[in-house]
Amino acid sequence: MSIKTVFISLLALAGAVSVPQTDFDVIVVGGGPAGLSALSGVARVRRNALLFDNQQYRNAPTREMHDVIGNDGTPPATFRGLAREQISKYDTVHWKNETVASIVPLDGDFSVFNVTDATGASYTARKIVLGTGLRDLIPPTPGMREAFGKGIFWCPWCDGYEHRDQPFGIVADVANVLGAVLEVHTLNSDIIAFTNGTRTPDGEARAAAKYPDWDKQLEAWNVTIDNRIIQSFERLQDGGAHRDNDEDKQYDKFRVHFTEGEPVERNAFLVDYPTDQTSTLPYQMGLEMDGSKIKVASSMRTNETGVFAIGDANSDGSTNVPHAMFSGKRAAVYIHVEMSREESKSKISKREGMISQRELEEEANKAIGDNLEREWKRAQDLQ
Ligand SMILES: Cc1cc2nc3c(=O)[nH]c(=O)nc-3n(C[C@H](O)[C@H](O)[C@H](O)COP(=O)(O)OP(=O)(O)OC[C@H]3O[C@@H](n4cnc5c(N)ncnc54)[C@H](O)[C@@H]3O)c2cc1C
Ligand SMILES: *[C@@H]1O[C@H](CO)[C@@H](O)[C@H](O)[C@H]1NC(C)=O
Ligand SMILES: *[C@@H]1O[C@H](CO)[C@@H](O)[C@H](O)[C@H]1NC(C)=O
Ligand SMILES: *[C@@H]1O[C@H](CO)[C@@H](O)[C@H](O)[C@H]1NC(C)=O
Ligand SMILES: *[C@@H]1O[C@H](CO)[C@@H](O)[C@H](O)[C@H]1NC(C)=O
Ligand SMILES: *[C@@H]1O[C@H](CO)[C@@H](O)[C@H](O)[C@H]1NC(C)=O
Repeated sequence: MSIKTVFISLLALAGAVSVPQTDFDVIVVGGGPAGLSALSGVARVRRNALLFDNQQYRNAPTREMHDVIGNDGTPPATFRGLAREQISKYDTVHWKNETVASIVPLDGDFSVFNVTDATGASYTARKIVLGTGLRDLIPPTPGMREAFGKGIFWCPWCDGYEHRDQPFGIVADVANVLGAVLEVHTLNSDIIAFTNGTRTPDGEARAAAKYPDWDKQLEAWNVTIDNRIIQSFERLQDGGAHRDNDEDKQYDKFRVHFTEGEPVERNAFLVDYPTDQTSTLPYQMGLEMDGSKIKVASSMRTNETGVFAIGDANSDGSTNVPHAMFSGKRAAVYIHVEMSREESKSKISKREGMISQRELEEEANKAIGDNLEREWKRAQDLQ
């Protein structure tokens, strides 16, 4: 769209715009820390909002949540429960424990959507927040999924401290081992890297491309590599029961079996596997993606006007509870202000000529994105 087209269409609109009449101002999809935080933000300014939650939380398997100040060691379900209880006091919030099946934009002067849930019920809203999360693609290796979040973990900040100074394993492609070691060497010194057959000439070349002296560094950190093919993880002890709460230590214990040779015992493992969107909605809605993440601007806006993405699901490259809360809060502020601008515009829309150049600029920015800022400056330079 050229800058001229945008202005002509906006000037035409400026005559009489109206805010769509909808069931809700905002529909939030996701009841994790991201969605709850967005809901809180819009509730505090009395926006009518509905939150959908089909209860597939990424951190569901973990025993306790960590590195969330004020809530270090709180079980995630307790944390979410307290959030729901506190947000429920705002009488503009509504809840549904249902799966959202589709979100379809409708025509209007401003963004408006039709949201249909798995029961077939549908609701309209002016803004959409996707806090739909990521899921971990853990391989079907026997014993692994059951232990994920309980002695086998992906995030040193989440679970590492409780397994400090214990015999430790890293399960990763050989090229990613050093990166993992550099995250955990302050927690564990007896480390074996299980590279599951990836230490080939090609694997070593990929490792060297990242860190030319990767093998010397591993040696310096006392890390040995076991390249046998992993067959299963046998749990020998459950750190949920064998724990020292005063010392913040959990004593899980596993025996790793291979397709050949003797098994190896370790207390805990850091693993490295890819993730994908928990929900198919971002793909269904045709949102711009960045790999498997929903592409967002710093405002948490996606490339579909009126749709915001927050938490693990978005492209910020930060997947933890503090980020989920930050991004939900940030989206709530942008959403409220965006809706207020629409309401304000609609109030004066009959008085033609009252739309200022500044407002038009803002509106055009929204319509075609940040690129316009450059275009606008160029246009002003030409004047
Ligand atoms: C084992 C493990 C331990 C972790 N420990 C920690 C930790 O200690 N500290 C920390 O900061 N981070 C931790 N994390 C990361 C943390 O879980 C995520 O960063 C956080 O959950 C992201 O919040 P979110 O709201 O974006 O997504 P989630 O918490 O995953 O919530 C997604 C929500 O979207 C809902 N949803 C998805 N699709 C639909 C749909 N179509 N309709 C309705 N609802 C839908 C889900 O049901 C869910 O309510 C851990 C992760 C794992 C895997
Ligand atoms: C929805 O799920 C939450 C969390 O499990 C629960 O506390 C709440 O009671 C449920 N609401 C309904 C209406 O079932
Ligand atoms: C929303 O979609 C449902 C079907 O999913 C349809 O029955 C309903 O009429 C639609 N509502 C609007 C306002 O378009
Ligand atoms: C080990 O490698 C095989 C073959 O690539 C793969 O199928 C399996 O999931 C891997 N196991 C683990 C635990 O990563
Ligand atoms: C170094 O690693 C070996 C084998 O993994 C282990 O036995 C030893 O305890 C480790 N040394 C230190 C200082 O942790
Ligand atoms: C968003 O980006 C995707 C992928 O680039 C594209 O297919 C889609 O049309 C865009 N949507 C809008 C509303 O521009």
